[in-house]
Amino acid sequence: MSQPGQMWGGRFAGSLDPAFAEFQKSLPIDHVLAFADLETNLAWSDALAQAGVFDDEELEKVRGAIDDLAEHWIEHGVPADDEAEDIHSLVERELQARCGDLAKRIHTGRSRNDQVATDLRLFLRERIAGCIEGVHDLCATLVEKAKQHAADPMPGYTHLQRAQPITIGHHALAHAEALSRDRERLIDAFDRMDQCPLGSAALAGTTVAVDRQVLADQLGFENGPTRNSLDATAARDHLCELAFVAAMITTHLSRLAEDYIFFATQEAGFVTFGDAVSTGSSLMPQKRNPDAMELVRGKAGRVQGALMALMSTVKGLPMAYNRDLQTDKETLIPALLETEACLHVAALAVHHATFDVARCAAAADRGYLNATDLADLLVDAGVPFREAHGIVGRAVNRAVELGVELQDLPDDERKALLPQLDCDLREALSVRAVLDRRSAVGGTAPARVQAEVRAWEEQLAEWATGVEEAFDLDDDEDPDDDDDESTS
Ligand code: ARG
Repeated sequence: MSQPGQMWGGRFAGSLDPAFAEFQKSLPIDHVLAFADLETNLAWSDALAQAGVFDDEELEKVRGAIDDLAEHWIEHGVPADDEAEDIHSLVERELQARCGDLAKRIHTGRSRNDQVATDLRLFLRERIAGCIEGVHDLCATLVEKAKQHAADPMPGYTHLQRAQPITIGHHALAHAEALSRDRERLIDAFDRMDQCPLGSAALAGTTVAVDRQVLADQLGFENGPTRNSLDATAARDHLCELAFVAAMITTHLSRLAEDYIFFATQEAGFVTFGDAVSTGSSLMPQKRNPDAMELVRGKAGRVQGALMALMSTVKGLPMAYNRDLQTDKETLIPALLETEACLHVAALAVHHATFDVARCAAAADRGYLNATDLADLLVDAGVPFREAHGIVGRAVNRAVELGVELQDLPDDERKALLPQLDCDLREALSVRAVLDRRSAVGGTAPARVQAEVRAWEEQLAEWATGVEEAFDLDDDEDPDDDDDESTS
């Protein structure tokens, strides 16, 4: 008597304790791998036929059963609450219901260990593509903002103290720049996991004469088959790496969120969030809260937790597969879905944030944000910078006492404090002049920001065509692989 309903039950007479049965199930999370699992089943069945395990007619039947199951699940969804232990057991049972004993031969020379490793990589390919799209959309929204406000001044901060004038556009592109590096990280991480573990079996490699290069090609793995069966079934560094990228993305989003939350305070008054991304208070009727950005900032903490959790799970695991690895999906998959959602909501919030251009400009025009420029003018007049710094510091103190800006110091004060200068300070220290002076590559000058916006627009156009090609998303042979089904 074998363990009823279990694919591994041969040597077991008794049943699992119900508490442990529940505890060991992974279907509630790994059902999202359903369509990836059908894809690996299809490829493996083809490989078995090549190796002589199935004849043509049998292969036809197996393929028909896989297609039928895919159609069934597209229509009805994948049951996450089935009694099956995991997605692989569920697929095997459903295929048996469709092609009988033939289905029992699909597991020849294969293990759930190489199967889950393969499924997961296929699934992650879709999720990485989703994150890349999310990064694209958010960058496009930031570039739009930058274009609209390429020449509009606002105060720039260090230590959260007003420091120098910048343009609103320059600020928007700063966040886009950070995200563009995350996009590269996603592509790098994808490239390293773009190898096919199928054919590694449980740990030592398959005994069936399959062509693993053909398998890798069929499943769209660009870098061929994995080179070591122990590593292929035991490695999860690609998951850790992806968790890091997700943590980095959401950390960047939390900084963007924090900036906009601050901009929306009454104290700053730079930004108002539209109704689409604001919420009110159940008690205080006047409130308009920036909850969208606050949730983005908050969720970053959970994604960082996923990175820590994965690293801790993998640490100290002996070679090769251990059941600990089943928990990888519970950790990583929600973190990736959360990251995609955060990217989307952050883009919405930026889109629905309206800058009070006049108030931003006024704030950039007060508070001695042009003091560095005054020191630079003294340097132009031959004063060493360190001395100029001291001279301007004293001028600022005097201006504070008098309650005026530097360019508005009375003539006599100015002559006493800054005898080296006889230019028109109102003009030379105007926000416009201060911004324009910073026209070197990377600077905040409106002309430079406009040029950057043009460069970004070209970049975004390249990105848009690049993703489909890189991830093979459009030319999938099997229409059943669409990720929206696999998450249903
Ligand atoms: N559900 C498992 C996982 O996700 C795959 C099954 C491997 N189980 C085993 N006992 N070797 O890791």
